[in-house]
Amino acid sequence: MSRPWNFSAGPAILPLEVLERTAASVRELALPGDTALESKLSILEISHRSKTFDRIHNGAIDLCHEVLGIPRSHKVLFLQGGASTQFAMVPMNFRVAGKPACYIETGVWAKKAIAESKALGETKVVASSAATNHDHIPALPPASSWAGASYLHITSNNTIYGTEWETMPDAGDTPLVVDLSSNIGSGPMGIERVTMGYAGAQKNLGPSGLTLAFVREDLLQREPAAYVPTMLRYTTHAAEDSLYNTPNTFGILVLSHVLEWMRDRGGVAGIGAINGRKADKIYAVLDGSSLYRAHAKAGSRSRMNVNWTLAGSDEAAREAVTKRFLAQAEAAGFCGLKGHRSVGGCRASIYNAFPEAGVDALVEFMREFERTA
Ligand SMILES: Cc1ncc(COP(=O)(O)O)c(C=O)c1O
Repeated sequence: MSRPWNFSAGPAILPLEVLERTAASVRELALPGDTALESKLSILEISHRSKTFDRIHNGAIDLCHEVLGIPRSHKVLFLQGGASTQFAMVPMNFRVAGKPACYIETGVWAKKAIAESKALGETKVVASSAATNHDHIPALPPASSWAGASYLHITSNNTIYGTEWETMPDAGDTPLVVDLSSNIGSGPMGIERVTMGYAGAQKNLGPSGLTLAFVREDLLQREPAAYVPTMLRYTTHAAEDSLYNTPNTFGILVLSHVLEWMRDRGGVAGIGAINGRKADKIYAVLDGSSLYRAHAKAGSRSRMNVNWTLAGSDEAAREAVTKRFLAQAEAAGFCGLKGHRSVGGCRASIYNAFPEAGVDALVEFMREFERTA
């Protein structure tokens, strides 16, 4: 049986080549040129202090710089607890007394980050798209609203609403902190402007249970405003090269496989061109249709998560046609298209590993469904 087209928002599709390499590494690592006994074992059973894992780990860090474009001035960290733990770690570590933490509120994940910051100290929401159910990225407010802040936080891609910053804003001297969970590595995006970034790995980078964080060295020097538990300090993990405690060794290996797969496809530039094409094809169907309606406004549209609702004379009719669309899509081999409850309708998550052929198949299905609806 052929594989279904996997539109899951996360944990999400991984390249087939990566799944196969990973399966082999679960049986026996067999790293080229590695004569250590550990190399004859599974990734799941070797010490994180072994020379063999050291090679995997350092290779993964190099790939983060080389392929994702994380500047060498930033420390790369492999953490746990998901992006959600970063919502609290960021204000705990980087808030300076007397300087508010500023946030741009573009959806559920931004709100969760804001809630953690508010619980910990002075927090300002300097722009929000809440009034229109987060269907756009608000314009960057004047610098006077956030200059001098402890940091300015944005969510670069809003997984639930399908909106994305076209490029990283220029925050001047204010540290720019970015939740990149759902679009890291998806194309050129001005990552060098990010002072501190974080991403749960389970969309564009690998399996769940691994969080990538990167922090510019000077921000690491900041004295936290209050006591921060050891495991929640970035300096703990930076000083020990992410080996203060046992890291997600399996996740780090898969991440390195994913980044090598990306590198072989032209890195973020090559992948970005394909991602742009994939998303454009679906938006073209939405914009040319009287049945489908894109949630995100032009100029703010995500290349990773494309959201739409279906038209109907009233709520019950809209619900019925959406249910029929999803049932027929499932029967045709498209899985994970149901939209998040905050928006309703449908969502196609088309991360880096999602093949263009799957987008072509979806587009054809959508046209045919509209024709016969
Ligand atoms: C943009 C964004 N931020 C944060 C999260 C939460 O990530 P985690 O489940 O790794 O805590 C998600 C999860 O989907 C997300 O899409």
